[in-house]
Amino acid sequence: MKILVASAWPYVQSVPHLGNLIGSILSADVFARYARLKYGKENVVFVSGSDEHGTPIEIEAIKRGVSPKSLTDQAHEYDTELFLKTWNISFDNYTRTESEVHKSFVKEFLLGVSKYIKVEEEELPYCEKDKLFLPDRFVKGTCPYCGFEDARGDQCDRCGRLLTPSLLINPRCAICGTPPVNRKTKHWFFDLRPFSESIREWITSSPDMPENVKGTALSWVNEGLKPRSLTRDNSWGIPAPFPGAEGKTIYVWFEALLGYLSATLEYFQRRGETERWREFWENGKVRSYYFIGKDNIPFHAVILPAMLLASEKNYALPTVIAATEYLMYEGQKFSKSRKIGIWIDEAPLIMEVDYWRFLLIRMRPEEKDMNFTWTEATRIVNSELNDDVGNLVNRVITMVNRYFQGKIPEPRNLGEVDRKLLSRIGQTLDNVSSMFEKGKLKGGTELVLELARETNAYLNEKAPWDKIKTDVEDASNTLFVASSAIRAIALMLYPVIPEKAKMIYDQLGLDITQESWDNAKEPLKPGHIVGKPTPVFKKLPPEFEKNLNEILEKVRKEVEKRRPALLK
Ligand code: MF3
Ligand code: ZN
Repeated sequence: MKILVASAWPYVQSVPHLGNLIGSILSADVFARYARLKYGKENVVFVSGSDEHGTPIEIEAIKRGVSPKSLTDQAHEYDTELFLKTWNISFDNYTRTESEVHKSFVKEFLLGVSKYIKVEEEELPYCEKDKLFLPDRFVKGTCPYCGFEDARGDQCDRCGRLLTPSLLINPRCAICGTPPVNRKTKHWFFDLRPFSESIREWITSSPDMPENVKGTALSWVNEGLKPRSLTRDNSWGIPAPFPGAEGKTIYVWFEALLGYLSATLEYFQRRGETERWREFWENGKVRSYYFIGKDNIPFHAVILPAMLLASEKNYALPTVIAATEYLMYEGQKFSKSRKIGIWIDEAPLIMEVDYWRFLLIRMRPEEKDMNFTWTEATRIVNSELNDDVGNLVNRVITMVNRYFQGKIPEPRNLGEVDRKLLSRIGQTLDNVSSMFEKGKLKGGTELVLELARETNAYLNEKAPWDKIKTDVEDASNTLFVASSAIRAIALMLYPVIPEKAKMIYDQLGLDITQESWDNAKEPLKPGHIVGKPTPVFKKLPPEFEKNLNEILEKVRKEVEKRRPALLK
């Protein structure tokens, strides 16, 4: 079984904030790291890339008076470095939609589905001042469904409904504000109707698909799928390959989604194994996991499957689409213009990346919107990471060193509590697996913490520091079991906090790169020699929250120096 891990491709006109990161890329990384441990590195491919086309980027470039390509070049470079180096995201391929492989894949793909594509003439809003058609976000106006006055031509940011520019009430040009006139133009449409029943069948028979995704996909199908416009009169994008469509480009969603395929292809091409990418797309042989924000659901649960089906190449439809709700920042929406929130180039200057990775997964908006607060962040770092995990590891390794010269003791006549905890280790590994495989990363991590708390309670109950004086056999049993537990805990936390987990493994005298998920079900070997204990985590000091404003101000000044001019 092959596993494809995909995270939504971030638009690159700006630096992502923490809400963007947890919604797609960080979640996907945790899953990819887990999947490699569970199913073997060679069976997992993790892809994503910069989503470079589309109107927001074109508008941003127009506003800044630069070409869209120079904007995305800078942004792609800056963001890629942050993902790969700073945040330790283990992509197999992080590419971009301007990649030649992607562009030619898209052209061929769309020519291959031409029987589902039709040309139609329509009237579209046109700005006479800017001499431009106003597709998608080029036009703003009032949402006909909820009355939101700043809705975009493609989607309402308040109610989330997909729109077309002609639906907007009181439309205006997003660049200059002038009300547009209507003009005739020709466009190519992708007909979704033939795929309604297949999509319904797929979504209702996907056991691990989260409910929010099922709900959206089914309501789309029930409302009736329609042909959707595939081309745009913009100049920034992938040129439409259809005869007669010269000067038009492909609507960003219809090509970016194909990036999941082209990025897999590009990955294997680079390795000189050009055909192997198909192994990760073959229906029946692949499980595919997509990590996205909830505003992306219709595209991944309806449009992507429709395109895959249209190609008639037996491509695998998504197994799990893990769509997060929103992360708020101290009760408010993240906002670049109002400077509300923390951005991914700022966070690592405040505390270590593994702390962020952990607390973001703990705050992952898995079932409902979540609110990032500094108080909660501090609690998670100080009590969950430091007390529940850090102290436990330190206590156990210290005692193995102190009482058994660093050797895992031989168990003899394990008692009931010992055996119970040993079997909890195996159970937890399985339960965390099944949580992760349903896209529940926060839920899975919670189970790991429970095991850590149980192990702490077990140690307190068995008090090997006393027993060592009166009942060496019991103290041996306790430390044998507890060491095996911390090894499994470190392993299960590895996907979330790879650097820290590796430190714990080093202290256990084990090599994480040689490890597999199911290995950890076996207790450690008696006689195995562990390393020396050193604290893995540090608490955030009591004055941390009090000094926060000062810290943030310093960090923002520093980031101001580092960020490329076009991203400020
Ligand atoms: N760029 C889109 C967003 O940030 C996501 C695109 S996902 C893709 O909302 F698969 F289409 F690339
Ligand atoms: Zn609306």
